[in-house]
Amino acid sequence: MTTMIESSAQIAALFNNKFNGDARLYFSPGRINLIGEHVDYNDGFVMPAAIDKGIFFAVAPNNTHTINVYSADMGEELHIPLTEIHKIAGWRNYILGVVDQLQKRNYPIGGFNAVFGGNLPVGAGLSSSAALECGLAFALNDIFNLGIGRVDIALICQKAEHTYPGVQCGIMDQFASVMGKKDYVLLLDCNTLQYETLPFKADDYAIVLINSLVHHSLDGGEYNVRRQESEKGLRLLRAKFPSVATFRDITPRQVLETAAAFEDENVYNRCLFVTEEITRTKKAAELLKTNNIHAFGKLMFKTHDGLSRLYDVSCEELDFLVDLAKQHTQIIGSRMMGGGFGGCTINLIQKDKIDAITALITEQYKQKYGIDAEVYVMGLCDGTHAL
Ligand code: GLA
Repeated sequence: MTTMIESSAQIAALFNNKFNGDARLYFSPGRINLIGEHVDYNDGFVMPAAIDKGIFFAVAPNNTHTINVYSADMGEELHIPLTEIHKIAGWRNYILGVVDQLQKRNYPIGGFNAVFGGNLPVGAGLSSSAALECGLAFALNDIFNLGIGRVDIALICQKAEHTYPGVQCGIMDQFASVMGKKDYVLLLDCNTLQYETLPFKADDYAIVLINSLVHHSLDGGEYNVRRQESEKGLRLLRAKFPSVATFRDITPRQVLETAAAFEDENVYNRCLFVTEEITRTKKAAELLKTNNIHAFGKLMFKTHDGLSRLYDVSCEELDFLVDLAKQHTQIIGSRMMGGGFGGCTINLIQKDKIDAITALITEQYKQKYGIDAEVYVMGLCDGTHAL
């Protein structure tokens, strides 16, 4: 049986039921990203925030050498000795990947019992995987007094995702989940991991997600291909421009001027997108700082266009949702969000029109695809924390 977990009391009760004892409680949030998509692994800037949807954990040491974990969302269990950690497909890989990374770094973790579950839709591009990894790592750091700092928790969890589920993700999701701040977005430099917190002051506008409820890519396969294409493009650009170290050293114009050198049109398109998106995100940060939310929203539309035409990570359903958004002047920005191939669009919508407009959009979406898209009005919250 699966259960939607909405509170720490619920997760504590489930823990008590399963393991007959008390545990420490934690919350680990999902994330949104306002702008800066598919550039975290390309030395760009991103603008994510932790959200008020996430995963609750109850975790306690069990004084054995075995880990016992119950996923309330899936209604499934994991029991495995610490000496036998290996990959097991599905949600277990996120747990095991984190444990494996902690062991590889010689952190002294013992056996533990854990129950987790939350209200973060899976496959929606809200980084349920990062929330799971970071929540577990944060809890183990706490109950075993490992002394790991927050940024290192994010880096350990990124590595866990590379090695166990096998998605060669950037640092954005884990960083946002751990480092988020209530009512703020992060402006993260993915090359140096320096970051600023910027208040999200959109006055009359709210951040609204529309979940297409479709998901067209399995196991990050296409994601890893995009990463390889970008790396290939960067090697070519470096050969042309010897002073270039990363994508941030190169302008979209230079990519355009180099067009003839690219044998593979896909690789050319990826490079054009990445350089444009890095430029856009820097501009968007200035606009947010000066409270120019309308111009900011226009850049979101441009990002969608690039993700769809050049980076090729959108899909018919997401394009349809963004096209519908463009028909409403009360939506000042809209784009697909996250890895792509499905999941959510992120929209800036005039607050007093949210219900009316999203009702129209979801109705049209249902007529076309027969799917009841879900709508979430987002609050921005603190990163992974004890409760
Ligand atoms: C996924 C990855 C992130 C990032 C986004 C796209 O969420 O986990 O690292 O690359 O896709 O911006």
